[in-house]
Amino acid sequence: MYPKIVIHLNSIIENMKYIKALCKRNNITLSLVTKLLSDNKEIVSALIQNGADCICDSRIENLISYKDLNVEKWLIRLPAFSEIPYIIKYADASFNSELCTIEALNKEAAKQGKKHKIILMYELGDLREGCLKYELKLILRKCFELKNIEVYGIGVNLSCYGEIMPSKDNMNDLASTVIELENEFHVKFKVISGGNSSSYHMMKNSELPSIINNLRMGEAVFFGRVPCIEEDIAELNHHNFILKAQIIELKEKPSKPWGISGMSNSFGEHVNFEDKGIRKRAIINLGRQDIKIDAIKPVDDEIQIIYGSSDHIILDVTDCKKFYKVGDIVDFNMNYSGVLSAMTSKYIKKEIEKI
Ligand SMILES: Cc1ncc(COP(=O)(O)O)c(C=O)c1O
Repeated sequence: MYPKIVIHLNSIIENMKYIKALCKRNNITLSLVTKLLSDNKEIVSALIQNGADCICDSRIENLISYKDLNVEKWLIRLPAFSEIPYIIKYADASFNSELCTIEALNKEAAKQGKKHKIILMYELGDLREGCLKYELKLILRKCFELKNIEVYGIGVNLSCYGEIMPSKDNMNDLASTVIELENEFHVKFKVISGGNSSSYHMMKNSELPSIINNLRMGEAVFFGRVPCIEEDIAELNHHNFILKAQIIELKEKPSKPWGISGMSNSFGEHVNFEDKGIRKRAIINLGRQDIKIDAIKPVDDEIQIIYGSSDHIILDVTDCKKFYKVGDIVDFNMNYSGVLSAMTSKYIKKEIEKI
């Protein structure tokens, strides 16, 4: 049934193996960021077998689905108070930046008779989660007094909000801060998690300070892509997820609506319509409830996306060499946010292609 997303698992595995080999050469463990997959156990299991040292997800629900997989699990979104009992039960470690949350994790871990690992986030300029250096020190001092918390390491996140790339400067800042903290608190952190897929080039060129011993990667593995600079990695496979939808109407119609115009369409938007005369328009069984239309790109580059409402996407197929008809399947490539929502939509079937 359509719409469906076809996932080329072997191409993703090839990417995984290639990146893992680079990580190994640089003494870096590779944490696979699984949030893109919603909770697809089959794909995650295959990637664990092919090199993931650990899995990271932003949603505790996904880690709960992976509870039987024999691998360390990290929650990479900062814990919400309401999730804490589940985090202690199902996550081995979590990323943190708030002392009150760490204290609540400690309390719940004591209740469940567990020791919970935390990775403290250091703010390096991208301005999403993380503490400035003075605050890291204040929190660390308190953390060492908490019996059910293990300070597992220090993490940083870049290229997510502020478009900041890893550089010699910020990586050296991370390295010198870690050394300062280790000396001040007489500890040796097990994990220094230095970034995500945007660190690919620095890692490949052995430019990361040697104290960094972990990277968390999603986009490089699943798309063969360096985020933030939007660069395809030449050695890797890129179009590993194809979205397929079926044509449910195909007609020649005027391109400009007629009748008395109101103020906005069903999405509250005002659209300016250009009169291009009569065009051949296909409607597919996919809509904005499933996917953001600017996240998808027709594989047939002669198709133009006209518009999407909740359940319909209208395509202009006038200029296509292929003669489309009702019932035909239209293929789309997607960016990260497209795959994220397609994998999450219960209306889009998931098909894993293994060849
Ligand atoms: C904390 C954290 N680490 C790592 C990643 C993975 O990023 P990327 O897919 O760019 O490798 C993300 C985003 O998904 C994240 O939020």
